[in-house]
Amino acid sequence: MALIDRDLVSISDLSDSEIEAVFAVADDMVRYTRTALTVCAGRLLATLFHEPSTRTRLSFEAAMQRLGGGVLSCADAKSTSAAKGETIADTVRIVEGYADVIVIRHPLEGAARVAADYAQVPVINAGDGAHEHPTQTLVDLFAIRRARGSIAGVRVALCGDLKFGRTVHSLARALARFGGEMVCVAPPDLEMPADLIEELGAAGSRIAQGHSFDEIAGGIGGVDVIYVTRIQRERFESAEAYQAARRSYRITRELLSGARPDALVLHPLPRVDELDYEIDSDPRAGYFQQAAQGVPVRMALLGLILGGVEAPRADPPPTRPDARDVAGARCDNQRCVTAHEHYLEPRFTGGDGAPLRCAYCEREVGA
Ligand code: NCD
Repeated sequence: MALIDRDLVSISDLSDSEIEAVFAVADDMVRYTRTALTVCAGRLLATLFHEPSTRTRLSFEAAMQRLGGGVLSCADAKSTSAAKGETIADTVRIVEGYADVIVIRHPLEGAARVAADYAQVPVINAGDGAHEHPTQTLVDLFAIRRARGSIAGVRVALCGDLKFGRTVHSLARALARFGGEMVCVAPPDLEMPADLIEELGAAGSRIAQGHSFDEIAGGIGGVDVIYVTRIQRERFESAEAYQAARRSYRITRELLSGARPDALVLHPLPRVDELDYEIDSDPRAGYFQQAAQGVPVRMALLGLILGGVEAPRADPPPTRPDARDVAGARCDNQRCVTAHEHYLEPRFTGGDGAPLRCAYCEREVGA
């Protein structure tokens, strides 16, 4: 079946109907999140987390164990051989000898693609720098779909640090595909990257942007979902730049009083300053339930990739654009994995009139 042995590096690696298939299985898994299935008995998942995590790592581990599988986890990548200078390529070629699936989180953009290229076992991206976090997007879409019945036509405000937030980069790509409407509300200098807006525009999405809800037609009352993100402190060049951006937006009870009575507030969490505790008791606050849904969604994904659960019919995956070397071209993104792991050959997609993009971090060259 379609998802067996597949990597998940970008949300674009799944066809729409494959995403629907994950949700159909996740709907079933909801009732098994407190039990012990045996569908992945004898299989092992390894987590390689080079950045902090609570929800993603623990919900992957919970999911694997609820499916009857086992988990190998390094609590802190600083205690792995990466600290001795071992490359991503070598690490995954070792770990594939121990586990049947690898879940990786890494600060460099494109790191999960490298892991997937070198590992013989499936690799799941649990966040690579500011690039993507596709399984969070599956959780986010699942939460929207469970609350609203579908994603098409739902108007979603993406709020907060849209420059560095990887969850919103994956989510925006997925919403565009499923016919969700988007508005972007970001503080100055933290707006959605221009090349991503361009990519979504080329796919037919028109996206309103503003620095506050007042600058968006319809304001907060015009949206169905308010998806809030934290300022990604760890990706700022300096502490001063972070302090300048800190507390630049906040969802308060007062702001929420202008929102629709059936609006849904989501957040990938953790929160810092941007969601007041006083809204936790508001029936529109959906973020804790959203985090809990990480377990059935990841159970479905792991069950399908490892072949432990029967898959609904789905269209084949989208074909990935051909990656090739382009004489004289190099990726100028200092946060790209190619700037740090020197055995990698630069590879690009696009060209011939289309923007040239690095095949690892997907940034437009020279943008
Ligand atoms: C997010 C992440 O790591 O990108 N967290 C998560 O996985 N739920 C969001 C964040 O850290 O702000």
